[in-house]
Amino acid sequence: MERCSTGVTGFDDLVEGGFPKGSMILLTGSPGTGKTIFGLQYIYNGAMNGENGVYVCIESTPEALKKQAENFGMDFERLEKEGKVIFYRVPTDDRKFGIFKKIFESVEKIHAKRMVFDSLATLNIILGRFVSLWDYETSSAASSNLEKMRSSNINSFDMMVIANSIIEQLRPIGTTTLLITYGSENPGSMAYDEASEFLCDGIIDFYNLPIGIKYSRSMRIGKMRSTNNSQYIHEFRITDKGIVVSPAEAILFNE
Ligand SMILES: Nc1ncnc2c1ncn2[C@@H]1O[C@H](COP(=O)(O)OP(=O)(O)OP(=O)(O)O)[C@@H](O)[C@H]1O
Ligand SMILES: [Mg+2]
Repeated sequence: MERCSTGVTGFDDLVEGGFPKGSMILLTGSPGTGKTIFGLQYIYNGAMNGENGVYVCIESTPEALKKQAENFGMDFERLEKEGKVIFYRVPTDDRKFGIFKKIFESVEKIHAKRMVFDSLATLNIILGRFVSLWDYETSSAASSNLEKMRSSNINSFDMMVIANSIIEQLRPIGTTTLLITYGSENPGSMAYDEASEFLCDGIIDFYNLPIGIKYSRSMRIGKMRSTNNSQYIHEFRITDKGIVVSPAEAILFNE
């Protein structure tokens, strides 16, 4: 089995050296738990080691992400200039965009092997608001209704169907893909769309939970197809080099 090393210190050992090549991995967690930083490190380390990457931004801009990455010593400007990384900003205010075609073109352009999609949940909400847009993206025959915008709340079945549709359209692109999405603080609870966790090949849950008088960051591998993955909850830190994961059974960060 070919593996895709994340290069995130301490992480690869939890998944037999990396993600199975070509797989789709869900990163779930509540706000501020480290999902985007992990995604940036994954794309950066890949591009520095011969695997180009596309970062699809939906809830942030390329500029903001590159600035965030700079804090951890990652120079994405240079990698972009060298044609190793593309930040693709999904234009969510334009209802005629063809997201998946543009993503595919970006991947082709730099022969990318990795992708981060940040985030599935946000795109799901946007597509749910514009039912006609979703039709436009998923069916060539349904573009007549582009101006119709849904005003009522999105129901959970819509969320499930849209998540399914997004994942179905990303999978043939063939990259080893990290799909960032919203998650709960409660270990073991399902993703909001009730579908993505079943459809993806792997899940990493990110937590930031109160222990005594402080919060502690941790992650666990919820699933990883074709992999004997760690069954532990792993504490991690966000350092000036990014995420550093504690190895199994070691309390590395005991203070
Ligand atoms: N230089 C730094 N050193 C240590 N921790 C940092 C540093 N910069 C940011 N952080 C921490 O990382 C968190 C942000 O991480 P990140 O952007 O990856 O979260 P996220 O899970 O993507 O959140 P969201 O769902 O809101 O996008 C901040 O809330 C902060 O606690
Ligand atoms: Mg984020």
